[in-house]
Amino acid sequence: MQGKVVDFPGTAEIIRELADSPVGDRALSGPGRLLLASLQASAAEIARISANINETVAAVVDATTPTSQLVGNLARDLIPRWHFAMLNDIERNGALATAVERQVKPGDHVLDIGAGTGLLAMMAANAGAAKVISCEANPLMAEIATQVVAAHGLSDVITVVAKRSDELVVGRDLERPVDVIVSEIVDCGLIGEGIMPTMRHAREHLLAPGGILMPPSARIHGALLQSPVIAGLNEVHNACGFDIGVLNTLSTVGHFPVRLHTWPHTLLSEATELVTFDFVHGSLDDGSTPVALTATADGTVHGVVAWFDMDLGAGVVLRNAPDNKSSHWMQAMIPLAEPIEVVAGQPVKFDFVWESGRLSVSSVS
Ligand SMILES: C[S@@+](CC[C@H](N)C(=O)[O-])C[C@H]1O[C@@H](n2cnc3c(N)ncnc32)[C@H](O)[C@@H]1O
Repeated sequence: MQGKVVDFPGTAEIIRELADSPVGDRALSGPGRLLLASLQASAAEIARISANINETVAAVVDATTPTSQLVGNLARDLIPRWHFAMLNDIERNGALATAVERQVKPGDHVLDIGAGTGLLAMMAANAGAAKVISCEANPLMAEIATQVVAAHGLSDVITVVAKRSDELVVGRDLERPVDVIVSEIVDCGLIGEGIMPTMRHAREHLLAPGGILMPPSARIHGALLQSPVIAGLNEVHNACGFDIGVLNTLSTVGHFPVRLHTWPHTLLSEATELVTFDFVHGSLDDGSTPVALTATADGTVHGVVAWFDMDLGAGVVLRNAPDNKSSHWMQAMIPLAEPIEVVAGQPVKFDFVWESGRLSVSSVS
């Protein structure tokens, strides 16, 4: 093979072109310069990836480096590290296995949304499914699932498809609408992996009338949180007397994971159910709901800490509440725009918002 497989123009050239583009004209202000620098940093990242692809292909041609090492060099960053912790979460795996076994009947056609290693698909096959389509958005993960499924001799029942579920079409990818959809596509704040639009699409287009959707529902709980340390995981103001607050432009928007018990903190309210999502019948649109939590002590509220309990159907529930210390899921910190002082007995009102896979709070009073 001759030349480069991916021909990406030089990073320096792109950085210069961006500076000469309309973005460059807007780059006179601080935010404008941050936008230009963000585009330039993205270009540098794409250049790094394209160089990596070209080096890998050259190494394959040279046949000097073992294939497994080449895969590792290229692919390690392409699969989120949480797959390991997730697959070692015995409670999670056991709950999923029980729920699948109780709901998949011999002869069923099953869709597994988000194959990962193919775990749920293999559980469905073991429960007697006649056919399992296991779809996976990440092509590398899909190949891993394909190899795991083959190694278990289940390739005649399970077909791994390297597609997002909303790209699947009945009559092409699925023989017919399926009897059961199984999935585990939730993050610490439940909605961060896109479960809402995914379930809405799947139940409308891929599930047979009266079919089973797993999970059928989930609730998000939360409490007022005082913890300057946890707030400081996502914002900074002063270091050694220097104001470095411009870095907060890059703070995570919406919720972020935090293992609550490992940080100093005080809960300033009782834990309360904030919202219920019905994946079978609910609208699953972005939305908000007014919440009032009563402060149980004087203090400073830095955010709302949230967690879920998720019905898997057939009486099986999975939860990542703070007392479940062995869950691989952390809790979700939802920071307030500004901390507020409260006294015991004071109601704290806010809108609890779920939007584009992010949890947030607004209109805090
Ligand atoms: C949390 S992991 C779970 C993997 C596996 N089901 C398990 O329980 O071990 C979710 C996987 O689903 C994939 N995924 C998320 N949403 C998807 C969708 N709508 N269609 C296909 N794959 C999806 C992600 O790439 C990820 O590999």
